[in-house]
Amino acid sequence: MTPSPVPLSGSRFQNEPAALYREMRLEHGPVVPVVLDGGIPAWLVLGYRELHQLTGDTVLFSRDSGLWNQRSAIPDDWPLLPIILRRIPLGDAPSAAGLRERAAVSSGALEDVDLFELRGLTERFADELIDTVCGTGEADLVADYAMRLPLQIIAALCGFTDEQGPGLVTALNDLLDGQERANDGLTHLVTSATELLAARRARPADDMASWMVGHGNGLSDQEIVESILEIAVVAHQSTADWIGNSLRLMLTDERFAASLFGGRSSVAQAMSEVLWEETPLQNWSGRWASRDTYLGGRQIRAGDLLLLGLQGANHDPHVRTPGAAQSGGNNAHFSFSHGEHRCPFRAQEMAEIIAGTAIEVILDRLPDVDLAVPADSLTYRPSPWMRGLTALPVKFTPTPALRPAT
Ligand code: HEM
Repeated sequence: MTPSPVPLSGSRFQNEPAALYREMRLEHGPVVPVVLDGGIPAWLVLGYRELHQLTGDTVLFSRDSGLWNQRSAIPDDWPLLPIILRRIPLGDAPSAAGLRERAAVSSGALEDVDLFELRGLTERFADELIDTVCGTGEADLVADYAMRLPLQIIAALCGFTDEQGPGLVTALNDLLDGQERANDGLTHLVTSATELLAARRARPADDMASWMVGHGNGLSDQEIVESILEIAVVAHQSTADWIGNSLRLMLTDERFAASLFGGRSSVAQAMSEVLWEETPLQNWSGRWASRDTYLGGRQIRAGDLLLLGLQGANHDPHVRTPGAAQSGGNNAHFSFSHGEHRCPFRAQEMAEIIAGTAIEVILDRLPDVDLAVPADSLTYRPSPWMRGLTALPVKFTPTPALRPAT
């Protein structure tokens, strides 16, 4: 009997993902038939070799969602659409050439970011966030810190003012929650980005929005706004979860607890281990087959959707011994994907600087930081896409703010 497709939902993605991927692999092999909410079929590619093939062959496995053989069956308000299309659609779906053009503009704007300044910016915003909690002796390092920091930095790099940062953070977090405030969040983000572009067209400055306006190669304002929001969505939540998951590892694992006091190398080691063990984007969208083909022994039809099983591939027994933790130095994981559409190298460097600096600032400012709850009571958000904590409550000796509130 053919095993039935696996629903890409449910509490096991949250509570025991490693066991779930192991079972899927045993039952279905490296390319797993899955079904998304609403009964939409797709393939989840968990095999390391197969994921390499999927992300490496951009002609056979395209990013062009126009190829999707299920698109006519899907209503425009399907809640998973922004995740599957990986964009907040403000207009028609871009063609493959349009996608490439936008990716080039986004990458160019990121290349223009000064990494030395980025470190300084991260330290400044991190210090400001810690100033708001350091006097109390307790904090939730997810809500008060990790979920606030990356977007505040990306917003400043784009050209938004410091005063606009917190409002944009709230709007994006509301949008990503997908609850009743999601639409208001989207409106706030689109209006703010559109106003920023108008201001930069009138008077360019030294920021990513001005770079995109100047080098946009004919992209419309709407397309540039979509590109800015795309960067914000992929950068914010994934970097926030990288910070949160690495801090959890350092606060709960004895190997790191011993060196928590000023242990710089242990920060890099924890961050690297998280990319192998519980990467922020556990499954991600997506590619569409441009013709009938085979992958991992499965027959794939033209227009089928294939999802990137990034965490599953990182745990593929063909590339590692089950149960053995991967340590620093080995970067052959799939956490940033692979091939032409992978996370741009400059973006990876930026994420590493933001996450690493964010953790170092915590260790500097709150040297005796410790978990305020039992480690086994920590919970993850219910998502088959992202891997991130709902909260990380900590306690520490209260210290004065660097810049007390006036
Ligand atoms: C400063 C932080 C970051 C920035 C600015 C950023 C930027 C981007 C951009 C622009 C893309 C789209 C590339 C394209 O469509 O061609 C992308 C894709 C992606 N990013 Fe990042 N990113 C950041 C952090 C991260 C982190 C922390 C992770 C995970 C650990 C991550 C994983 C990915 C993945 C898996 C993709 C999809 C690649 C694919 O489809 O093959 N990113 N990122």
